[in-house]
Amino acid sequence: DKGGHKHFMAKEIAEQPTVLGEALSYYLTDAGIALPEPGLDFTKFDRLTMVACGTAFYACLTAKYWFEQIARLPVEVDIASEFRYREPPIPARTLALFVSQSGETADTLAALRYCEDKAMIASVVNVPESSIARASDIALPILAGAEIGVASTKAFTCQLTVLFLLALKAGLDRGTLTPEEASEHLAQLKALPGLFNAALAASPEIEATAQKLAEARDILFLGRGPLYPLAMEGALKLKEISYIHAEGYASGELKHGPIALIDQHTPVVFMAPSDGLFDKTVSNMQEVMARAGKVVLVTDARGAKAAAEGTWRQIILPEVSPALAPILYALPAQLLAYHTAVAKGTDVDQPRNLAKSVTVE
Ligand code: F6R
Repeated sequence: DKGGHKHFMAKEIAEQPTVLGEALSYYLTDAGIALPEPGLDFTKFDRLTMVACGTAFYACLTAKYWFEQIARLPVEVDIASEFRYREPPIPARTLALFVSQSGETADTLAALRYCEDKAMIASVVNVPESSIARASDIALPILAGAEIGVASTKAFTCQLTVLFLLALKAGLDRGTLTPEEASEHLAQLKALPGLFNAALAASPEIEATAQKLAEARDILFLGRGPLYPLAMEGALKLKEISYIHAEGYASGELKHGPIALIDQHTPVVFMAPSDGLFDKTVSNMQEVMARAGKVVLVTDARGAKAAAEGTWRQIILPEVSPALAPILYALPAQLLAYHTAVAKGTDVDQPRNLAKSVTVE
């Protein structure tokens, strides 16, 4: 049942305020952040290794910023198919964390099996009875509900929400985050479902931009800090369902190669909330515009006021705390991909060559 939407993907994008709220009410009690049994005590770990594939991998890359900044915990993130065959050493006091919507991804499960006798195993999954959940010492549900569209949307933002809560828990356990700072983060997190609803006001501009993007052959997505993984996620989403070639890069890498691609035919999407790194991103934008590149600026009102001049299109979102920006900015990334695919007339929910659950390597 598509609930009145044209595609499951549209329904699942629209469900995000609700499912994010559900994930929050599951994990937040009066006593604070509550994990399912047997819980996690981050004083027992000196490092975190996160392993996943595809969109779940980008959720892990985003969470690396949080665990490092909030909990000062060294983090390694890897793609499951590389990790499992590289057979990396797993030092004592490592927490191994596997992220998977389906909980059945063959490479992720194999990577988990490799760690089984070497580390405590945690997983962040959507399907609680899945193989990955059952093989874990602790399985953390994301509570996104069934995701039917092949391109992952609500599972990604729910994964991010659960990983953010874990980073707060790690910071509290390790004493790098005060209870007051944690409460402030939690207040921002609780406001997120409302911000998602408010961000939907940008839908008409996103749709109009997507009509134009549908004519492009190549599109770049750029972001800095925690918006860098989101740039890669935006590119993945777009190529999966619209079949337009897209790449996500760290904005600071522009000069180190991808700038050679820029001409009047290359749209460049900047995921750029007005955070502490905004000015750096603006100078990257100017480099693109100086080469006639078409800039799609995704930012907030403050960012638009400071830097919209000369950009091709602007998508304005509500202000959000810098830590949580990658969760909110997932919405325009998903909607840009969705409306571009609709404009091209592709099979949005069942893109060619892709399967929802990749149970063979
Ligand atoms: C992208 C997408 C895939 C999955 C990947 C991992 O939209 O859906 O990249 O994220 O195949 O799948 P799970 O999370 O089920 O392990």
